[in-house]
Amino acid sequence: MNHKLYDFKAHQNIHNDMMAGCSEWRIKMKQSISSLEYETLSKEMESFIEFIETDIIPHHDESSQDGFYNQILSERPELTEKIHHLSRDHQLIRIITDLMKKELQNDEVNFQKLVDYSSSVTLINEIHSKDEEESLLK
Ligand SMILES: [Fe+2]
Repeated sequence: MNHKLYDFKAHQNIHNDMMAGCSEWRIKMKQSISSLEYETLSKEMESFIEFIETDIIPHHDESSQDGFYNQILSERPELTEKIHHLSRDHQLIRIITDLMKKELQNDEVNFQKLVDYSSSVTLINEIHSKDEEESLLK
């Protein structure tokens, strides 16, 4: 069990680090697409995907598999629907990440689409984190 998940400040710090990472990558990627540096953008996109897979998804997996959500549910069953919504956010982040990986494998990569996907993941992750903080941790 990861006790950090139960502590508001510690859990919020994890969220803040994820959001800072996303915004750092997105600034770089936006610069690369506006200056048409597609080779650089391609590498940044791969690193961004790696960041999602090593820093974001494992955190969400911990929340759902480490018993954190179950613990909340056992104490506050009225949050069942909220937990379902939060779990769906996890799925959406995985689905969009897979779409990004597929797009990167195409012969003609649609970079605008990839930047849009990265914005979607960032936004879902941000809404999700705030929602967790407001609903589960306060
Ligand atoms: Fe979280």
